[in-house]
Amino acid sequence: MQPTPQDVILETRDLNMRFGGLLAVSDFSAVFPRGSITGLIGPNGAGKTTCFNMITGFYKPTSGQVVFHGEEVQGRPPYALCRAGIARTFQNIRLFNNETVLENVMIGRHLRQKTSWLQTLVFTPASRREEKEIRARCMELLDVVGLADLAGEKAASLPYGAQRRLEIARALATEPSFLLLDEPAAGMNPQESEDLMGFVRTIREAFGLTILLIEHDMKVVMGVCEHLWVLDYGQTIASGPPEAIRSDPKVITAYLGEEQPHA
Ligand SMILES: Nc1ncnc2c1ncn2[C@@H]1O[C@H](COP(=O)(O)OP(=O)(O)O)[C@@H](O)[C@H]1O
Ligand SMILES: [Mg+2]
Repeated sequence: MQPTPQDVILETRDLNMRFGGLLAVSDFSAVFPRGSITGLIGPNGAGKTTCFNMITGFYKPTSGQVVFHGEEVQGRPPYALCRAGIARTFQNIRLFNNETVLENVMIGRHLRQKTSWLQTLVFTPASRREEKEIRARCMELLDVVGLADLAGEKAASLPYGAQRRLEIARALATEPSFLLLDEPAAGMNPQESEDLMGFVRTIREAFGLTILLIEHDMKVVMGVCEHLWVLDYGQTIASGPPEAIRSDPKVITAYLGEEQPHA
């Protein structure tokens, strides 16, 4: 295996995902420098979420490698990759609707819990102390995403944009080093999308993250990403800084008939 440069936190090498006769992702090879914000864009059905699913362990790639911190991790289950520091949000929000906002974040945090489930069950002083710490830390995270006032509300009662931010808080609770956001601005109003750009930059700094996001809102993509990868029918048709991508004829053609990549 070729060594990955020190400043690259995650790298994909010739990732392929086949579903029967459909090659949903073909030879996806990308590098993600530590501390970067990268965008993965392309028309509907291009294979973006499938890339996320392979990187986060929800799909086992048909072939190819995911190298994280210099180690091959492809095919490991999602919880193992999450423990290793890869966290994500979902295109279709996945929250525990009947649990409170705070409980939804605590679910993420429990992955980092030190006391065993048995200790938790019998409520030892250690587990009680840890539970208190978890609760406090999760309240801090809710504050970061601007949802602290709603901690006691049921997750389902939140407006769409707030549910997306709650998912981000839950992902942050797992203490990731690499965060994948699948269409974080979907369902947000223009003001919320605008705020999201600043928010993504803030959490990158505050939590020392490397971020990969899928997004259709070109204003968000162009505003926050330092580098873009463009997929079309599973193929990587372009990669580069946003300014170059915006004027790339292949990218413009891929978007014709869908939405124009305008900033
Ligand atoms: N579990 C699956 N089984 C079969 N086909 C799938 C599965 N997941 C995704 N696909 C197909 O792979 C292609 C890429 O899908 P997806 O990665 O969701 O695209 P995007 O996120 O870019 O819109 C689509 O044609 C989709 O129907
Ligand atoms: Mg998708």
